[in-house]
Order: sequence, then C-alpha cells, then structure tokens
Amino acid sequence: MKQPVRVTVTGAAGQICYSLLFRIASGEMLGNDQPVILQLLEITPALKVLEAVKMELNDCAFPLLEDVICTDDAKVAFTGSDYGLMVGAKPRGPGMERADLLKDNGKIFSTLGKVINEVANPEMKIVVVGNPANTNAYILMKNAPNLNPRNITALMRLDHNRAIYQLAEKADKSMNTVKKMTIWGNHSTTQVPDIAHTTIGGEAASGMVDASWANDEFIPKVAKRGAEVIAARGSSSAASAANGVIDHMRTWVLGTEDGDWASMAVCSDGSYGIQEGLIYSYPVTCKNGDWTIVSDLENSDFIIGKMKESEKELQDEAETCSDLY
Ligand code: NAD
Ligand code: LMR
Repeated sequence: MKQPVRVTVTGAAGQICYSLLFRIASGEMLGNDQPVILQLLEITPALKVLEAVKMELNDCAFPLLEDVICTDDAKVAFTGSDYGLMVGAKPRGPGMERADLLKDNGKIFSTLGKVINEVANPEMKIVVVGNPANTNAYILMKNAPNLNPRNITALMRLDHNRAIYQLAEKADKSMNTVKKMTIWGNHSTTQVPDIAHTTIGGEAASGMVDASWANDEFIPKVAKRGAEVIAARGSSSAASAANGVIDHMRTWVLGTEDGDWASMAVCSDGSYGIQEGLIYSYPVTCKNGDWTIVSDLENSDFIIGKMKESEKELQDEAETCSDLY
C-alpha cells in the first residue's frame, strides 16, 4: 500500500462537497491504491454540519480513508497537504454573473493564499472551484509566491464535460467516442467551447455537425449551462461540479489517455498569444503529475476573436480586484 496523501478541501460542508468528499474517499480521484487523509476547512458556524459529514464519511468504512480532520483554522487545513480543492465560496443565484461574486469571494482567496504561502508544501497541487474560479485562482497565486505557479489551476472540466455531452447528443454518438474537446478562456459566458480539433470515433467532429450549430447553438448552450441549471434547480450545479473536480485532479495526477486531452485553466505561458500569467483554459495533456499545453493548433479567426474576448474579460476581472494582490 502507498503512503497516505493529504487532501485539503475548503467549503467542506457545502453542496458540492457533499458529493465530492465521498468520491475522493472511495479512491475515484487518486486511484484505488492511494490512501487519503482529508483535511476539511469550514467557517466556524458550519463546523457542526461538517461533523455530520465526517460521521457519514466514517460510516461508509472506505478502506482508503485513513483520517478526517475538521477545522476552521486554515493553517491546520493546509499544513502538510499535497492537494488543495478550493471549493469554499458563495455561489451565485438567478440573474447573477459569476464575476458578481468577485467582491465577496476574492477576499477568501487572498486570505487563503497568504496562509498557503506560509504553511503549505510549495509543490501542492491546487484546483480552484469557487467562482469566479479563474480570477480567484489568479488572486491566490499572487498571494502565494512561494508556490509553484504551475500547480495553481482552475476548474474547466465541468464545461469540457458539458461540451462532450452536447456534441455527442447532437451527433447521436456515445460520449466515450468524443475525444479532444477544447474549452478556451474563462469559466464564464465568454468561454470558448471549440470542436474544430475534436474527434468522434476517430473522425473529425466538424464533419458530423453543421458549422452554424457549432457556432450559434453549441457555444452559448455550453457557456450558459451553469445558469440553466440554476434556473431549473434553484441553486448551482453540485454533483456535476464535484464530478468535474474528480476528473480534473485524476487527469492531472494519473495522466491523459493517448489520443485525448483535457481542458484546464492554467497559468498562461503566453501560448496562443494570451497574456502570460492569466489563469486561462487551454487543452492540455498530462503525464507524471504535470500538464503541457497542446501547441500548434490552427484556430479560425472566429475562434481567435472569441479567445481574445475571454482574455480581455480576465484582464478586466484582474484589474477590478487589484487591491487583493
Ligand atoms: P455552498 O454554499 O453549498 O457551499 C459553500 C461552502 O463554503 C459553505 O459551506 C460555506 O460555509 C463555505 N465557506 C464560505 N467561506 C469559506 C471560507 N472562507 N473557508 C472555508 N469555507 C468557506 O456552495 P457550493 O454549491 O458548494 O459552491 C461552492 C462554490 O463553487 C461557489 O462559488 C460556486 O459558484 C462554485 N462552483 C464552481 C463551479 C465551477 O465549475 N468552477 C461549478 C459549480 C459551483
Ligand atoms: C457552473 O458552471 O455550474 C458553476 O460555475 C455555477 C454557476 O454559477 O454557474
């Protein structure tokens, strides 16, 4: 058996975590041979509910679950940790954009960034989920200069999975035949779901659906799916978000399959003309716990224009909260 790893999860008494924690503990995220210690952070008023979540985790008797630590002290939550799943933040309600959360949620990420900088393993791998996820990750990165910036990422896998579903449904094919889906940009309505390089059963997806569907229906459908779920459910996506986190971390740690890639928001190295340092979603391959941006894809002027719009939105969001870093 491997040595246990420590997984810190913030907002652990919330909706997403009620699905997420059980799947981590069952081995779905890091593998069936990887014991885990969960270090769960909540605000003080939520500790009672968090204790109930711990009771339920224990009552599952997961063979891989070595320990569950519940705390409202961020230093305790991040000390010695290998993975940080940053979920704790306010969700939006109907009629709001994710960027409207920046004022409240940005502060959480500047505070936690400072604590992580002080106590965490500089190589810990982080995924930010709390919205607006890309800019919160940017704030965290700026407040945690001791951390390897390659290890600070934001969740785009929910959008990636949504895009796979929409395309498979339209082409009337199984979802497991869809490979090389791409989401560029921000986890917002400016995101760019792009099927130009996607394959279905090894054939170009672009040959199986109309270009007008891809540009005029598919892109807005995926980009606005979060709001569609909120309108139907009264609160934001939870189980599918948790599933996105599991997929994101598993891919990063255990690797992408040959002939496929995933979408991850990572610290831009300037690829595709995007400003260096922004947390921007790219297609990536993963191997040995590291990611590489897929290079040299040829993009149409239409897609490039949209990628630049999403970059501009991220630049504006960063500017709006420059007091936080
Ligand atoms: P929720 O309100 O059910 O849970 C959030 C939890 O975070 C609460 O229990 C709250 O007490 C806790 N919390 C608040 N501040 C905290 C802090 N400083 N430290 C630790 N915990 C703190 O919300 P949810 O549905 O679980 O969603 C959480 C976040 O994830 C929201 O911002 C939501 O918009 C976002 N989200 C992102 C994606 C994505 O794809 N990136 C998808 C779905 C939801
Ligand atoms: C989502 O995409 O479902 C989440 O970001 C929640 C939201 O506010 O849309």
